[in-house]
Amino acid sequence: MLLRGRAETCRVAAAVEVNGLVRRYSPTAGISDVSFTAPAGAVTALLGRNGAGKTTTVEICCGLRRADSGQARVLGLDPARDHRKLAPRLGVMPQAGGSGASGVYPSARVEEVLALYAAMYADPLPVEDLLERLDLRRVRRTTWRRLSGGEQQRVSLALALVGRPAVAFLDEPSAGLDVHARHTTWELVRELRSAGVAIILTTHDLAEAAVLADAVVIIDAGRVVASGSPADLTRDASARGLRFEAPPGLPLGDLEAVLPDGASAQEVRPGHYAVGPRVDPDTVAAVTAWCAKQGVLADNLTTSSRSLEDVFLALTAESS
Ligand SMILES: Nc1ncnc2c1ncn2[C@@H]1O[C@H](COP(=O)(O)OP(=O)(O)OP(=O)(O)O)[C@@H](O)[C@H]1O
Ligand SMILES: [Mg+2]
Repeated sequence: MLLRGRAETCRVAAAVEVNGLVRRYSPTAGISDVSFTAPAGAVTALLGRNGAGKTTTVEICCGLRRADSGQARVLGLDPARDHRKLAPRLGVMPQAGGSGASGVYPSARVEEVLALYAAMYADPLPVEDLLERLDLRRVRRTTWRRLSGGEQQRVSLALALVGRPAVAFLDEPSAGLDVHARHTTWELVRELRSAGVAIILTTHDLAEAAVLADAVVIIDAGRVVASGSPADLTRDASARGLRFEAPPGLPLGDLEAVLPDGASAQEVRPGHYAVGPRVDPDTVAAVTAWCAKQGVLADNLTTSSRSLEDVFLALTAESS
């Protein structure tokens, strides 16, 4: 197994502890109240809309950005003050295309970059093993600038893991990956978890969060609005969602006017509609009658208990 023989395991239960973190870029941008803990040997997923504050939070925890106030502790240390001490124990995969992106020299070849990073750690993983596991052998002599987006992502993940980190921060690790690479990434994340690593990842793929994460932290407009295991967050048995497909752009304001009190409708992606948070026979009747009035057929109409996506949509609808 790739991670066998890790030099270090995390000895504190809460590998990452964040309390009341604030970082304002402007009156409306930044984070204003982020608190969570991420234990060792677990996957903690930070979820939130674009601009919610996930990367800012991760960057503060990695010591790449200072908070205005609040506290972050990683392995019991202050990531800004104790950066040098902490850096060898952290693995960081920056968001692709983000402001903190990779920093890899564009003309460096994949194997050179990996060897360079490996040389910075006392007990690195064998570069050959990483090339093999992340399916990078074929491009080992390719320069960074000539790699495809998904190949760069895989190199970036390899760089985060090469030092056998005790805490891994992975900012959208599966963004832009093909299905095979995504599964490889999930396997690696599960191996890291079994080896006792604390993994903090961000993702926009809520199905990924549901299968991979032990805990999720939902951040909306710079504040934590919910946290817990995916099962905890979707437990409310009385809450059900209704979904249907129809031509995009239906006037949902009119639909909401005929729905029972408290129900709302959203077009979650073009042509895909969701109604919630509670669904009873009257709601189903109202939706089908309204669709008939619009002259459209509600395809694939289903009702089911809430998914993580339903919970996320309900909690983050306000900030649009
Ligand atoms: N260096 C910066 N200067 C000014 N504003 C910034 C800076 N970095 C981030 N922001 C703003 O802070 C907010 C949070 O950004 P952040 O990158 O943390 O969001 P995110 O949740 O990671 O979003 P995404 O899902 O798009 O990656 C956004 O409104 C962003 O525009
Ligand atoms: Mg981000």
